[in-house]
Amino acid sequence: MDKIVINGKRPLNGEMSVSGMKNAAVAVILATLLVEDKCLLENLPDISDVNVSLEILRSMGATVERRDRNTALIDTKFIKPGSSPYDLVRKMRASYYLIGAELGRFGKAYVGCPGGCDFGTRPIDQHIKGFRALGATVDVAGGYIDAKTEDGLHGSSVYMDVVTVGGTINTMIAAVKAEGTTVIENAAHEPHIVDTANFLNACGAKISGAGTDVIKIRGVKQLHGTSYTIIPDMIEAGTFMIMAAATGGHVKITNVIPKHLDSITAKLDEMNVGVEEGEESVTIYKKGDIRSANIKTLPYPGFPTDMNPQICVLACLAGGTSLITEGVFENRFRYTEELKRMGAHIKVDGRVAVVEGTGSLTGAPVRAVDLRAGIAMVIAGLAADGITEIDDIFHIQRGYENIVEKLTRVGADIRLVHVPDAISYSKAE
Ligand code: EPU
Repeated sequence: MDKIVINGKRPLNGEMSVSGMKNAAVAVILATLLVEDKCLLENLPDISDVNVSLEILRSMGATVERRDRNTALIDTKFIKPGSSPYDLVRKMRASYYLIGAELGRFGKAYVGCPGGCDFGTRPIDQHIKGFRALGATVDVAGGYIDAKTEDGLHGSSVYMDVVTVGGTINTMIAAVKAEGTTVIENAAHEPHIVDTANFLNACGAKISGAGTDVIKIRGVKQLHGTSYTIIPDMIEAGTFMIMAAATGGHVKITNVIPKHLDSITAKLDEMNVGVEEGEESVTIYKKGDIRSANIKTLPYPGFPTDMNPQICVLACLAGGTSLITEGVFENRFRYTEELKRMGAHIKVDGRVAVVEGTGSLTGAPVRAVDLRAGIAMVIAGLAADGITEIDDIFHIQRGYENIVEKLTRVGADIRLVHVPDAISYSKAE
């Protein structure tokens, strides 16, 4: 029951380094199941979703050697099919990659239904469509996904009805060792799709077109081990950009791929925030008062849905009205109730939030309702006048490495406070 406590209104100054990308790391870790050999993964973020992914593989029979906090050597040779523990699987969304990986390796998969942030219903029908196109029969019953083939998977064409990151990666993973060629059309373009394809190709897979609408996978019989470095996390980078902007600070954000940040950079520019791109860095600085803007979240290369809560905090600090339209998930605005405790003026109607920027927020006790919502509370706390206490920070720890230390180094007054269970229980009454 730890809390984050922030004494706000201090501009951040200095340098912040971005860790490896969560959503690439979890896909690559679970895709090692296909490899049946040793893979050395570097630049893994030290976050709970990565630790849970490694723990799932370990409990299925893999050896996982943590070389240091960001490096792991994984050997999946002795993994047993259908052995992932339900309690770990339901802790995170990305465990759905076990289905594609087990199907690809064993021709069958038995995996608990995935967990993850609650943004309304999050179906996996497109993943299932992909597996069925490759020849699997798939049933969902008793909290498990049960997928089977008679004689392994066979390459095929799949047209995704919606642009889905998870569905694209999962079908791609399953197809790597299928017999023949698979074509995924209307594929998602996110950088972590490219990173997962690059990892699999480094192991001997034959994937082309990742990062475009059409991905082609020529099935191979066997993969081999490799060393692979995970790309930087564009959402962590974007979050740091908004932290700097919201506090009126001057921060150089390093270990980034600036191209991945184009939609965020363009929006910050529109909101009168200074952004200077370097080769592997972006520097954020104050130009003047923050201006309102309209934002619509979309699949990559559009403005990321995983930056919706963070940009909303900036809109609260702007002068004027901003409209934020959520174009990916049906219910991503639960966090606005928390921001209202801090004095925000926001009205939500379905997928649109109308934000009346007042230029300021005030500290308050708030809750992290999901991962990105939680980090948005941190941004709000950094910019607000007074003390902000954030509860349920386990959500934040799923996706942000060492966040309190990283922020302390650039001048934030932020503390992690351990609240003994007994006290938090009696407080809850
Ligand atoms: N969708 C379907 N059917 C499917 C799959 C998705 O209708 O079979 C719908 C979803 O309901 C949603 C849209 O398609 O409306 C896009 O969902 P997508 O499949 O792209 O999302 P996801 O795979 O569940 C991943 C990230 C999320 C990120 C989204 C969108 C991982 C583990 N998770 O989720 O990350 O928000 O893509 O970019 O990669 C986060 O990191 O905080 C996070 C939530």
